[in-house]
Amino acid sequence: MIFESHAHYDDEVFDEDREELLRSLGEHGIGYVINVGSSIENCRRTLALTEQYSFVYGAMGVHPSETGELDEENFAWLRAQCAAPKIVAVGEIGLDYHWQEPEASVQKKWFERQLELAKDTGLPVIIHSRDAAKDTLDILRAHGAEEIGGVIHCFSYAKEMAREYLEMGYYFGIGGVVTFKNAKKLKEAVQYIPMDRILLETDSPYLAPEPNRGQRNSSLNLPYVVQAIAALKGIGCEEVEEITSGNAKRLFGIGQ
Ligand code: NI
Repeated sequence: MIFESHAHYDDEVFDEDREELLRSLGEHGIGYVINVGSSIENCRRTLALTEQYSFVYGAMGVHPSETGELDEENFAWLRAQCAAPKIVAVGEIGLDYHWQEPEASVQKKWFERQLELAKDTGLPVIIHSRDAAKDTLDILRAHGAEEIGGVIHCFSYAKEMAREYLEMGYYFGIGGVVTFKNAKKLKEAVQYIPMDRILLETDSPYLAPEPNRGQRNSSLNLPYVVQAIAALKGIGCEEVEEITSGNAKRLFGIGQ
């Protein structure tokens, strides 16, 4: 059984066949999905999906690139939603310096506020960090990230950075990029990270793995990610599925 730890099925590119696609996941071995919020509107839609599908859980958070929309009023709304029954994380939150929009000071402010929100609610965090390795780590440390717990989504840094997050007790979201031929750094990191810290994710509709690179992604592509991890670790695909599912259930407190 595969646990999909990061997807955006509320995205409008799924409007035409969302119901059919989500209903088909079970028969393809996908047992759980975390639908991850990225803006206030996406959080609203995520909540609806968690109510509609028994196997869909949600994360409430605003992506760094969307933090320009946050104010005290919608932040209070976000806080209240964290108490909903199937909300299991705060995310995705973090820093994205690849797109310096909004400016770094705004991203940092709301990253810190959302980390505090996670601490207050007792939920783990789903971290988005792009071209911002040092600032992400500094802010996490300053806010007692070890106690909060969480996953570094779409981990894209090298082994050295993996070591820092391992020491903080964090998990690593590994997705389609691990199947790319040029992802040498990430493949090395995956070999280095212990199996009990890896989660499977797609970031659907983005980052489809080989051989479907460039197409709309969905959890149905996760077996390609499983195969890539199994090859790097020298273990079987079933073992990869089993261990990563156990990891996700432990982190998000599902089915324990
Ligand atoms: Ni995402």
